[in-house]
Amino acid sequence: MRPVLDAARARRSVSKVTDAAPDDAELLELLAAAGRVADHAALRPWRVIALRGDARARLGAALAEASGLDASDPRGAAKLAAKPLRAPLLLAVVAVRTPGHSKVPEWEQDATAAGVAHLLSLLLDEAGWGVMWRTGPHTRHPAVATAHELGDHEALLGWLYVGGRPSGWRAERRRPSDATAQFSTLRSRD
Ligand SMILES: Cc1cc2nc3c(=O)[nH]c(=O)nc-3n(C[C@H](O)[C@H](O)[C@H](O)COP(=O)(O)O)c2cc1C
Repeated sequence: MRPVLDAARARRSVSKVTDAAPDDAELLELLAAAGRVADHAALRPWRVIALRGDARARLGAALAEASGLDASDPRGAAKLAAKPLRAPLLLAVVAVRTPGHSKVPEWEQDATAAGVAHLLSLLLDEAGWGVMWRTGPHTRHPAVATAHELGDHEALLGWLYVGGRPSGWRAERRRPSDATAQFSTLRSRD
């Protein structure tokens, strides 16, 4: 049995989800496991903010504001404002940087935070939830940062849109990934 290998092979994003969502207790269990990623100097350079209910509409309003589009235009701001309502739960993944660290530059800290997002996404998928990591052109806009009450050294990596898998949902078969295109061996001088 190789459960992690099987879960990684089976993971698929679910773009349309139902109103069911994991509660905070389940999220905390999965986030604790996701937090076991490699983390140079154990800085814990991430945090996750859950957006449910009306908080999603506040994010929508911030996205609309960030776009600068006319609020009355249904193809513009209104469409953007509705985007966070596509799932009952959004998990905002935040990179929490320690600037000027003597050993761990900020790019390494961001790599750890992204690792947590990927692992959390896998764990949610493995637990039977529908998950999709989404971003967009306004992810790093100040209005969006303010809506999440981010600090000076924090930046969003996007949102895991989480919900129930629709009944009858089946992961589309995917072309098997051929890792040879992403793998090489540096010439040895031995
Ligand atoms: C950082 C990040 C941001 C993403 N943003 C979006 C997005 O805004 N919209 C989108 O359709 N897919 C986005 N994706 C890709 C999807 O999450 C997903 O991986 C893709 O649809 C392929 O589906 P799969 O995960 O089942 O292979 C993003 C992925 C990552 C890692």
